[in-house]
Parts: sequence; C-alpha cells; structure tokens
Amino acid sequence: MTSTSVPVSELAGLLPGLEVIRKDFPILERRLADDLPLVYLDSANTSQKPQVVIDTMVDHLERHNANVARAMHQLGAESSAAFEGARDKVARFLNAPSRDEVIFTKNASEALNLVANTMAWAGPLQVGKGDRVVITEMEHHSNIVPWQLLCERVGAELRWFGLTDDGLLDLSNIDEVLTPNTKVVSLTWVSNMLGTVNPVAEVARRAHEVGAVVVVDASQAAPQLPVDVQKVQGVDSCIDFLAFTGHKVTGPTGIGVLWGRQDLLDQLPPFLGGGEMIATVAMERSTYAPVPHKFEAGTPPIVEAVGLGAAVDYLSEIGLDRIHEHEQAITGYLLEGLATVSGLRVLGPTDVTQRGGAVSFELEGVHPHDVAQVLDMRGIAVRAGHHCAKPAHKRYGVQSSTRASSYLYTTPAEVDALIEGLEYTKRYFKVGHEKGGTR
Ligand SMILES: Cc1ncc(COP(=O)(O)O)c(C=O)c1O
Repeated sequence: MTSTSVPVSELAGLLPGLEVIRKDFPILERRLADDLPLVYLDSANTSQKPQVVIDTMVDHLERHNANVARAMHQLGAESSAAFEGARDKVARFLNAPSRDEVIFTKNASEALNLVANTMAWAGPLQVGKGDRVVITEMEHHSNIVPWQLLCERVGAELRWFGLTDDGLLDLSNIDEVLTPNTKVVSLTWVSNMLGTVNPVAEVARRAHEVGAVVVVDASQAAPQLPVDVQKVQGVDSCIDFLAFTGHKVTGPTGIGVLWGRQDLLDQLPPFLGGGEMIATVAMERSTYAPVPHKFEAGTPPIVEAVGLGAAVDYLSEIGLDRIHEHEQAITGYLLEGLATVSGLRVLGPTDVTQRGGAVSFELEGVHPHDVAQVLDMRGIAVRAGHHCAKPAHKRYGVQSSTRASSYLYTTPAEVDALIEGLEYTKRYFKVGHEKGGTR
C-alpha cells in the first residue's frame, strides 16, 4: 500500500472482513510478473472462484459423477439431486416464484438466443413480418446479434434506444420507439462497457403498455446487485425473462441461466431438440416435456450447474446488498483515482450511484492494448478492446477502451496500484498531459 492509499477500514461501504473474503479465492495469492501480487481488475469479464465452488465441483466429480435423470442407480440419483438442488439454489437467488422457471443454458448468450430463436417460430409470442424488436445501443453483442438474426429471419424491424453524452439511456423518443407492434424490448440492466445501471422497471412499464415482452440481460447485474425477478427496482412483476451467466457470479464457465415467467415459457416452442426434452417420441412426431426440461436438450452441464449452485449460495451468504455497497465504495474510489490521471477520459457515468463496477476509459496517446500490456507487466489484469460492445464504443467515437472492473474481493490498495500503473504507463510511453480527468 502506498502513502496515498486509504486503509481498508477507512473507506465506508467496504465489505467487513475483506481480507478474510480474499482468502476464499486461492488465485488471489498468486504473484505475477516480477514477483508482484496479482491485481485482478477484470471481474466484469469473468470473476474469480471461491474455494467452496472449486471444492463442490471436485467433490461432485470425485464422489457423485453420473448422468442425470436417466441413470437408475445410486450415483445417478445423487447426481440428479445435486443438479436439481442447484436449480433450487438459483431459484432462491433470483426469488423466482417457481424452480421450474429456471432453465440451465451454456451461458447468457445461449439464454438470450433461446428467447430470440423461439420467438421466430409459430406460437402466441411469435414475432412476425412488420413487428418491432427494441434493444439499446449499450448492449453486449450477445443481446444485439440474436435479435438481429430474429429480425432478419422473420422480416421484423430492429430499433434501439440511443445513449446520452453522459452514458445514460436516451429515452427521450420512447413514445415513438415503443409502438403497438413492438413485440420485444430487450435491455441490459447494467452495461458491461459504460457501467450504467438502467431504469429497467421504467422501460419495462412502458414496454408492457404496448404489449411487448420484456427481456433483461442481467449478466453484469446478477454479480453485484440483489436480483429479485418478482420485484425489479422496487416494482412488482415488471419483467418477463432474465438471463445471466455463471462465470461472472463466482461460478464456473459453461453454465448460464434463463429465468422466464412460466406462462410465457409454456407458450414458447422448444429451442433445441434431443434427449431429456421430450414427453413422447414417435417416428411421426414428438411431444415435449414441461418446463424447464423442454428447454434442456441433451446431457446438461451437470458439474457446472452444481458449481453455480455453490456460487450463488456463497454470494447470498455474504449478502448481495453488502456486495453492492462494496462495489459502490470501490468504484467511487476508482473514479476518484482515475480523475487524477491527466489525459484520461472515463466513458460512462461518473456518478457512482448511476453505475456498476466496470469502468472503461481511454488514455490519450496510448492504445488500450498497450495500456493493458504495461499494466500486465506490473501484475495488473484489466481488459482492453471493444468488450463485445462495439456500437457503444462507436457512439463515443472510440474503437476500443481499457476497462478496470472490481468485485467483492477488490481492495483500495489494488485501485492505487492501477492508478500508479497508469502513471507509469504514461511515463513508459513518454506521454505528458497538461490537463485531463473524467468527463
Ligand atoms: C452484459 C453482458 N451480457 C452478456 C454477456 C455474455 O456472457 P457469456 O459470454 O457468458 O454468454 C456478457 C459477458 O461479457 C455481458 O457482460
């Protein structure tokens, strides 16, 4: 810790017992570069994993491994119980009214594709020629491309809400965008590039007024905010589908979740066909299992689901409210630090109450890849590139940016290391700036 750093105990809102929490994550012990401690500031990309998630997965593989649902033996029963137990845990994490509304997918991308694909097919929710699908300019590619594909396939029109100069959703033309033929509004709760927390409940209210289905990408929200699918931002039952990905909530890769209102899931046709998703199969035609199994064709990601169950229990035990406070405190401290670096421009809101813990920025005169590489030489891991949000970068006139993202294990000393690293980067590239800071 340097002379400028704030002792952990003095920054209000930090998780109590932060040093103990850090010990749950074995990877944080690593030393990189010239024997420097790892400073992991890439959690919006993927989070690190606590020992309990690692142990749960290893235990499952060592002691309970068997296929689920179809194995008529004790191990099969144990594995099925663990897998379905994970569904219960995720249902509790989301406060879903029913465990059957929780569908396991490969990741958030697959969850969003599931909805966008099945809405192309015949059924009460079908999107057809001349209908409208609405997204926003700050979406991750995973919440853009599936809807583009849907619209191209059926001849529907894709519209989007633009962004203000401050990195917020521009809803000034909402009356014009949300027309009676709008069938879907799909938006991110928290932007992975700008960090912006969107007024999901308000957009959902307006979308429902025109009869549209509301899909929420909670990939960046679920790790850092309490997510209650029955009460988003204090408003009862205002969303219809919600997707998130396991690896950002301290779970493993290879597992994601789609939550949907049961009446809507019942109305959608199956996405993928195969084993486990059927009720009957004859050569002429098949009938399908009830949800969630209708949407889980083939052998599911069993150990990944079990790991995700352990992860959401781990986060819930600490408390999402407390994790959120921690993220706000650390992000506020990070924004203050970045404001001292001349020539640095933060992309997205600088008011911490309007944003989550991913902060993208550009450093004048240094390419983001170079910034990341020099930081890496000091053991500091950040992301550089377009963060799968090319349209949002284009909106702010940049090709790419550097992104620092915190999580429940991030300390003020790590933020200090980043700020020092950025000053070092400027010296390294002999870049001097008269003035700068955030906008
Ligand atoms: C907002 C958002 N949506 C969707 C995704 C896609 O997640 P996955 O690649 O796990 O499907 C991400 C991942 O970066 C994200 O940040």
